Amino acid sequence: MSAPVTVPGLDQAPTAHRRLLAWVREVAELTRPDRVVWCDGSEGEWRRITDELVDKQVLVRLRQKPNSFWARTDPSDVARVEERTFICSADEADAGPTNNWMAPAEMKRVMTELYDGSMRGRTMYVVPFCMGPLTAEQPMFGVELTDSPYVVASMRIMTRMGADVLDRMGADAPFVPCLHSVGAPLAPGQEDVAWPCSDVKYISHFPDSREIWSYGSGYGGNSLLGKKCFSLRIASVMGRDEGWLAEHMLILKLTGPSGQVKYVAAAFPSACGKTNLAMLEPTIPGWKVETLGDDIAWMRFGEDGRLYAVNPEFGLFGVAPGTDWKTNPNAMRTLAKGNSIFTNVAMTDDGDIWWEGMGEPPAHLVDWKGRDWTPESGEPSSHPNSRFCTPIEQCPILADEYADPRGVPIDAILFGGRRKTTIPLVTEARDWVHGVYLGATLSSETTAAAAGKVGVVRRDPMAMLPFIGYHAGDYFAHWIAMGKGASSGAAQLPRIFYVNWFRRGDDGRFLWPGFGENARVLKWVVERIEGTAAAVETPIGRVPAPGALDVSGLDLPAEDLELALRVDAAEWREEIPQVVEWFERFGDKLPGVLWAELDALKARLDAA
Ligand code: GDP
Ligand code: PGA
Ligand code: MN
Repeated sequence: MSAPVTVPGLDQAPTAHRRLLAWVREVAELTRPDRVVWCDGSEGEWRRITDELVDKQVLVRLRQKPNSFWARTDPSDVARVEERTFICSADEADAGPTNNWMAPAEMKRVMTELYDGSMRGRTMYVVPFCMGPLTAEQPMFGVELTDSPYVVASMRIMTRMGADVLDRMGADAPFVPCLHSVGAPLAPGQEDVAWPCSDVKYISHFPDSREIWSYGSGYGGNSLLGKKCFSLRIASVMGRDEGWLAEHMLILKLTGPSGQVKYVAAAFPSACGKTNLAMLEPTIPGWKVETLGDDIAWMRFGEDGRLYAVNPEFGLFGVAPGTDWKTNPNAMRTLAKGNSIFTNVAMTDDGDIWWEGMGEPPAHLVDWKGRDWTPESGEPSSHPNSRFCTPIEQCPILADEYADPRGVPIDAILFGGRRKTTIPLVTEARDWVHGVYLGATLSSETTAAAAGKVGVVRRDPMAMLPFIGYHAGDYFAHWIAMGKGASSGAAQLPRIFYVNWFRRGDDGRFLWPGFGENARVLKWVVERIEGTAAAVETPIGRVPAPGALDVSGLDLPAEDLELALRVDAAEWREEIPQVVEWFERFGDKLPGVLWAELDALKARLDAA
């Protein structure tokens, strides 16, 4: 046993929470930070931390956006690392075939060794946070211990964080302990680098004890542990055990010309359009979109039998490239208000941010690697997974219901991915089970949001492949079971649709203009629910009947529309062996009804 350690700040805990106090002490004794800071989430604290980061040249203050900063990571630390992400369930079988697994005790042994002294020379911040409104009956608390001030500043944007949370936790509220270290201890006198991180990375989840241990990366998805780690991987396990769903979904409120309101949730893989759809500015008159969330939805049945969704987050962590006044004006308006952190974008000479997709590039920039950049440089100025991190309350179209702990009743769920071929613009599922089949077989081309090759088609069930905290076969069964959970029957269930904004023509052009024009698809969805829009049955589901999709005023060649909506039986037959292979991975955990859906699809395609 080592002697009791005194770490400045450790004993200045503004809480009497016994488990928290014991855990913070235990981690401090292991990681040996120079000091401990208990975060209160105040303005003053934000100023201190961002000033310090500016002094150290980790952040650059932007002259053109109030209270906003430019950050550049190490070029190796730019995305989620799925290869290094682990679900450490007690039983290996519970992690299923889609997750990396290590026994919890073994992972803890390995990582304890890494954490030993890993915060030397640094400050350990205690960040109490709450996912979802603090006014919830049972607020969902977490506490992140981190040696990264960049993480603290980002957590203040992305979560409800600070003294209010600690107060509400009292002396014994349950919380998810989230331990994070960049894994770069400093020897006495050693100079720090701008973006400390480690070649060794572990993003580990312990679903049985509801703990998260992250090591070696400062990138958002690996280090802002309230987001993907807690609100998806750990929360999906809570949802399995308690009968609710934690999903990778945006939530939006859609109001039609006659004032009718519909709530839509949509699951697309990372960098496939959630943030954009959530903030959509419709191009068709009379329709209005308001934002509730852009990444995560927690959904449970209300007493009225409807499925209610809450966004557990407090900020937007959006893909920067492609975001512009033309594509996503509401994001631009949100960012113009300031109070944001931009990571791995480029900076203009007058101290503003720039990225690909913002129109004509300026003659000179500093690129995401800190180098001079000109339009002749021959590579993008911003990393394709560069991000803005900004308060959701600055969104000019935030819906009033955003902070309501009861959430909003979901009318439609969209699944979607990024596919050049095969998948039509929109397809309606026949019923809940068919919808679950569409979600379970969702496929998408990989993007820069995760380390690895880009553009490879993979199955990404419900856009949750990297985020399901347990066996994906059990997860499908949970979805099927949820469909039986609506107390007043199937009529109350959200209707399920499958969309693809990314189908391309032979020359590589997008067949569908996307962005604000996606409102036309939402309109058809609403009209399907209301029973006023026509559809045709196809082997894969219902697609808009000729003329049923409103394209008035849209300058789109009829041929492109036809190709965007087309169901090609030959293309779909090619998908079948891939789906069979995918389903076989789950063995007897795959719900039989999904095999039945596949058989029925095969039969319909053969008859087509
Ligand atoms: P998220 O990670 O799922 O939230 O995805 P984003 O909304 O941030 O979008 C990721 C990338 O896809 C960005 O570069 C967007 O500009 C682009 N994108 C989003 N929606 C559309 C669309 O409807 N059509 C096309 N072609 N691109 C889109
Ligand atoms: P998103 O999430 O791309 O789904 O917005 C962030 C991430 O993948 O780290
Ligand atoms: Mn997003």
